[in-house]
Amino acid sequence: MKRLNIILAAVAACVGFVSCGGNAVEPAIPVDPEIEKAVEKTLANMTLEEKVGQMTEVAIDILGGWGPDGFTLDPEKVQNAIGKYKVGSVLNTPVVGQTPEKWQEIIGYIQDVSMKELGIPCVYGLDQNHGASYVMGATYLPQNINVGATFNPEVAYQAGQITAYESRAANCPWTYSPTVDLSRDPRWPRVWENYGEDPLVNAIQGSAAVRGMQGEDPNHIGPNNIAVSVKHYLGYGNPRTGKDRTPAYIPEYELKEKNFAPFKACVEAGALTIMVNSASVNGVPVHASKELLTGWLKEGLNWDGMIVTDWADINNLYTREGVAHDKKEAIEIAINAGIDMTMEPYDLEFTTLLIELVKEGKVSMERIDDAARRVLRLKYRLGLFENPNTPFENYPDFASEKFAQIATAAAEESEVLLKNENGILPLKKGQKILVTGPNANSMRCLNGGWSYTWQGHMADMFTEQYNTIYEAVCNKFGAKNVVLEQGVTYVPQGGYAEENAPEIEKAVRAARNVDVILACIGENSYCETPGNLTDLALSENQRNLVKALAKTGKPIVLILNEGRPRLINDIEPLADGVIDILLPSNYGGDALANILAGDVNPSGKLPYTYPRHQASLTTYDYKVSEETDTMEGAYDYNAVVSVQWPFGYGLSYTTFEYSNFQCSVEEFGADTELVFTVDVTNTGKVAGKEVVMLYSRDMVASMVPENRRLRAYEKVEIQPGETVNVALKIKGSDLAFVNTQGEWTLEPGEFRMQAGNQTLMLTCK
Ligand code: BGC
Repeated sequence: MKRLNIILAAVAACVGFVSCGGNAVEPAIPVDPEIEKAVEKTLANMTLEEKVGQMTEVAIDILGGWGPDGFTLDPEKVQNAIGKYKVGSVLNTPVVGQTPEKWQEIIGYIQDVSMKELGIPCVYGLDQNHGASYVMGATYLPQNINVGATFNPEVAYQAGQITAYESRAANCPWTYSPTVDLSRDPRWPRVWENYGEDPLVNAIQGSAAVRGMQGEDPNHIGPNNIAVSVKHYLGYGNPRTGKDRTPAYIPEYELKEKNFAPFKACVEAGALTIMVNSASVNGVPVHASKELLTGWLKEGLNWDGMIVTDWADINNLYTREGVAHDKKEAIEIAINAGIDMTMEPYDLEFTTLLIELVKEGKVSMERIDDAARRVLRLKYRLGLFENPNTPFENYPDFASEKFAQIATAAAEESEVLLKNENGILPLKKGQKILVTGPNANSMRCLNGGWSYTWQGHMADMFTEQYNTIYEAVCNKFGAKNVVLEQGVTYVPQGGYAEENAPEIEKAVRAARNVDVILACIGENSYCETPGNLTDLALSENQRNLVKALAKTGKPIVLILNEGRPRLINDIEPLADGVIDILLPSNYGGDALANILAGDVNPSGKLPYTYPRHQASLTTYDYKVSEETDTMEGAYDYNAVVSVQWPFGYGLSYTTFEYSNFQCSVEEFGADTELVFTVDVTNTGKVAGKEVVMLYSRDMVASMVPENRRLRAYEKVEIQPGETVNVALKIKGSDLAFVNTQGEWTLEPGEFRMQAGNQTLMLTCK
């Protein structure tokens, strides 16, 4: 076939990437002349020491200590960091989250010293990853993996709004969120921190979170909004080993086409800062990659935001990655690559060494000015020069009932019904229920990491007012109908995989007197490297528990409560029902009880592929050649993709039928607008929400095409018997791919489009 490829130089910017030195790109964030004037005026009066100080961020731990009244700042230490070293940013919580009042005190004091010593406000940053998760008493939203499972950008937007409001109530203007790494390896301990495996879902949900947190005008972040730091740029989510902070090897075409897409979408939504991947991609630590930091991000997107390192990652260039001889060389490499602010976090020597590097001519004054300018611009955009503090009394809705309802609804939309046989669900009223398994009675398990502490291990101490699964089931079905016998338990405050000696017999005995068993299994909380694993299977104790319970003949519903998909292929057949609640947080137990009772119709969909076998890990957009039929002849090329549940899978208590799938055109080019319409009918007896997904398959391409790619989605609520006509719009150029030369290309030929069970063919001319 004759190939007349359309190389999408002109449209590259709208589909994902523009190469450096190519067409001029509009600034990602509109330039505000007033802000630029103010930045230049401030910069003009600053010494080299002050500029380098603005590039430095330290951890709160080095500014104070713990005593009988909890954590308190040490005025001498604060004076040393800000007065002497001119530090412009502080981060983190001292071990455990603080009350809004305490944050007001801590950050307020730091702001006072900053304004007095430097005339420049400090920008304080916290990991507010699912709500203001380092602020005691704040409204916790479900973790991002759940927000992905809702396939509803409004949920991400509202979660962002609440997070921002409650952060400001604690006087904190900046967060290290949202996370839009693609979780393309189920072994990775950070799967749950982002919106799943797909670039489009991360782009749509992530950019909605950015708008929710920052508001609509990135130049003027209001008092109810905060600055985001989209992370972790780039390619963090599929390390070859499956372990945290280990090298990834991702072909450049895939990096551009998939990993870059959500960062680009977030930048276009106005993201003011970006945090860098701690590890290396294709042999180069991202903190040392001028191409990725300055080339792709700052120049390629014409983005004037600020790049911050991850935790101690400049040091890691010499201590771990082995690309620098010492700290000084590591600083030279990272700053010249495009880092604007270093999250140091404990050592102020960074400033001394960077000043030396400038004096020696190894880092230019121009680079220092560029970095300091980006930090100052952030502070002006945040309004911190005018209002360094946001007093608590201005936030009467902190932890309000209104926010709790939004968090509960978000959890309800995010829990995924994966199996429902023999009419097991909803549970019938009056049934006797055994609630069992290690996740049955724990707020720690529902929340996961980044909850009150980094590892989330102390969550049960601070969550008395919320309901565990057991408590929520008691409230819903009546305590007299519910028995708790866990059979397997985790070690309190232990590592995520630490279990006590099992007492399976006790659970089996309790099962004899009930009608149905809810086996609440999965993982305990973890975060980052402590969550690494060597075996993807669910723990042996937990699988043994389910096997023993199955022998009682009582019907079982598996409640999966886990940060990543643990293998359950040997116990799934023993259950009539399966609900994956992922990490739904403080209102997740109530949400589950509502679903179990049929008061809420589940509508979550898996945001990742749920694997069935250890050595058969894949993503839904695998290359077609991963799955080939048996060939005739001497060699058998047979390959099979076998998964437990596919990406996008999730059942409802009703059924939906698709019909009348159409497209506004039969032939298209790069600039054609394609409008797809499909009728979706609720053919069941209860109202339900359906995620209508549009997939494409490039039938023949010069690079092995993918099985399918998600191109658009929309969630709609449909009443029983009602038919809704859903329209999904894309541009022809959205069907392009990045070729081996790194160019976006749209090749003439056939595309198969799919919505539900409906397909149609289109031709690219
Ligand atoms: C994590 C980041 C986090 C940072 C600050 C790092 O260890 O990788 O996601 O934002 O710490 O707490």
